[in-house]
Amino acid sequence: MVDKRPEPLRLGSIAPNFDAETTKGPINFHDFIGNNWVVLFSHPEDFTPVCTTELGAFAKLEPEFTRRGVKLIGLSANTIDSHGQWIKDIDEISGSNLQFPIIGDKQRQVALAYDMLDHQDATNVDSKGIAFTIRSVFVIDPKKTIRTILSYPASTGRNTAEVLRIVDSLQTGDKHRVTTPINWVPGDDVIVHPSVNNDLAKDLFPDFKIIKPYLRVTPLPKEKTSAA
Ligand code: BEZ
Repeated sequence: MVDKRPEPLRLGSIAPNFDAETTKGPINFHDFIGNNWVVLFSHPEDFTPVCTTELGAFAKLEPEFTRRGVKLIGLSANTIDSHGQWIKDIDEISGSNLQFPIIGDKQRQVALAYDMLDHQDATNVDSKGIAFTIRSVFVIDPKKTIRTILSYPASTGRNTAEVLRIVDSLQTGDKHRVTTPINWVPGDDVIVHPSVNNDLAKDLFPDFKIIKPYLRVTPLPKEKTSAA
């Protein structure tokens, strides 16, 4: 039993490496990332209702992640044999064809390394035997840097469109020296990064507008739209 939590992960941390069994065979996580973006999302137990709907939704949206160079990988604190049975239910209920790997993390070692567990002790077994919460989403870039961490309560299903939107924002920002405002979706105006002065902004974004000296907005030049 591991009784000491590792240092908490933060945005900008390198995603911890690990070897694991998955429903698609054994992986080394850093090899799995390779040169791709990765969305790693976790579940505390197989055959749980909210998680069942989430996995089906991720499976149905996988082509959109693939189009953006993103590999999906799930994790659940159960065995891969159990995952295999669960996937049959997920596909039946959601009309999905779940193809991405799901890590078998019965011993919760990956969950622990990624600080997915709640405030209880590291084994984290509550009275019903389900680990709480192990309901995280990590967006990891090709340099293996953690770019987003989301953590959900058991009661609240995730929003796959939001995860995709975060990927779009990160990839757009990396490519164009911009940030994205509240509720941004691809096609909306973006914010010129504070490190870009007005002279450079005129070159990069001919149609940029100064709303306040600290808030400058611009459409992305058409050919530069990463998620088009
Ligand atoms: C679920 O409904 O997916 C769920 C239930 C209990 C704990 C965690 C998740």
